[in-house]
Amino acid sequence: RGLALGIDIGGTKVAGGIVDIDGRILTMARTDTPSRDARAVEQTIGTVVDELTRDADIVAIGIGAAGWMDTEGSSVMFSPHLAWRNEPLQAALQSQLRRPVLIENDANAAAWAEWRFGAGQGENRLLAVTLGTGIGGGIIIDGRVERGRYGAAGEFGHMVIVPGGHRCECGNRGCWEQYASGNALGREARELARAGSPIAQEILERANGNVDEIRGPLVTEAARNGDRAACDLFTEVGDWFGLGLANLAAAFDPGTFVIGGGVSSAGELLMKPTRESFARNLTGRGYRPAADIRLAHLGPDAGLVGAADLARVAASRRWARS
Ligand code: BGC
Ligand code: NA
Ligand code: ZN
Repeated sequence: RGLALGIDIGGTKVAGGIVDIDGRILTMARTDTPSRDARAVEQTIGTVVDELTRDADIVAIGIGAAGWMDTEGSSVMFSPHLAWRNEPLQAALQSQLRRPVLIENDANAAAWAEWRFGAGQGENRLLAVTLGTGIGGGIIIDGRVERGRYGAAGEFGHMVIVPGGHRCECGNRGCWEQYASGNALGREARELARAGSPIAQEILERANGNVDEIRGPLVTEAARNGDRAACDLFTEVGDWFGLGLANLAAAFDPGTFVIGGGVSSAGELLMKPTRESFARNLTGRGYRPAADIRLAHLGPDAGLVGAADLARVAASRRWARS
């Protein structure tokens, strides 16, 4: 009765996995995210589920995706990077997949996984922040996911930190995720390359000379290989990132921040400037204990592990009631 299936729908990849009761992934499947068309994404989910359930018996399916869901986990109200608008995804998928389906925000799912099985274990005031294409947030207080009154809590990426700044896919300007995310790294690196700066030479070579192909993951790769310009971009991103974390500390006073997502694979290149900026910007610094800022333990699969676990827990509650 213990196995559940988790799916993480990212901007570029759809990853699925069969997850056991201890958060271990037994088998995985991965495919590209189709165009932004809602139906195409649902079909891709179906294909991944079919492939994974061919020889595994599962009790529930959890789907983690960017955007805000209603508090029952039945509809996606809005997704900044996908085509879903008030989409009754749970009902559609349940009839297609003939199993209980739970819809959860991708970062909430990752936060849950880190709290249950990873870097956030034992922390009863945990904030998880994922740095990927955008910035995701998850709030775990006293062992439960805080979803807010309407399901849209934890959208840290859309706190405005630069009024009138870069336009965001959510419709506003100056959102945090426009300054500290994979998208921000990509945009800044492209700008550097377009300016014709010799500093951007190595980054440009990695993109085969094609500026438009410079994206966040490429910059992360370059930084990990010691490229000076890429490392400098990480210092900039870390500055913005630490500032946002200081704001979150002012609002939530968490004991621990767990930092995950693809950009965090840069490790200390990101964490050092982040911690410094956090320490510089923390309100009342010196007169309060500062939250611990830690790297996530579960890597890029945290979202699918958390989605599966939340779906398993929800399904077992349903049995307990019936
Ligand atoms: C979305 C969030 C999501 C995050 C990470 C943000 O742009 O608004 O819902 O968790 O990206 O995917
Ligand atoms: Na969230
Ligand atoms: Zn925004």
